[in-house]
Amino acid sequence: MTRLEYTKKVLEHFKNPRNVGEMEDADAIGTVGNPVCGDMMELSIKVEGDKIEDIKFRTFGCASAIATTSMLTELVKGMDLKDAENIKWADVVKGLEGLPPVKVHCSLLAVEALKAALYEYYRKKGINRTDLKPRDDEGDEHHGDSEKACGPLI
Ligand code: FES
Repeated sequence: MTRLEYTKKVLEHFKNPRNVGEMEDADAIGTVGNPVCGDMMELSIKVEGDKIEDIKFRTFGCASAIATTSMLTELVKGMDLKDAENIKWADVVKGLEGLPPVKVHCSLLAVEALKAALYEYYRKKGINRTDLKPRDDEGDEHHGDSEKACGPLI
């Protein structure tokens, strides 16, 4: 079995993830993933004006899912909603100074959870942003590699 090479940043975010937890006064919560294999991501946002004032996440996901979501929360905290909805998995991977190719798909879970939270935020305001709506078929596509065991809910 080969060992995946992670950057120092990935390992640091995995060992010390930022913005973990539940948010009691969240304006919106996005949940995405595949309940069958255990990869799930819950992401909560608090919006002030047109900015993401606070963000938190919990996950049943692998080390890469934890690290990428931790990085994503750092990137979008304080960001305008419009800019946040344009965040791509590549921005998150760049922030982590790389991710093993087989693990790049894990960063999608973080980005999709953010989009789901934004979709919910707008939905509550009566705005139907179908472009942000999570896809129902995410799960099977997401698990393209052999890793089935995912980490604890943090
Ligand atoms: S979240 Fe990383 S393998 Fe599924």
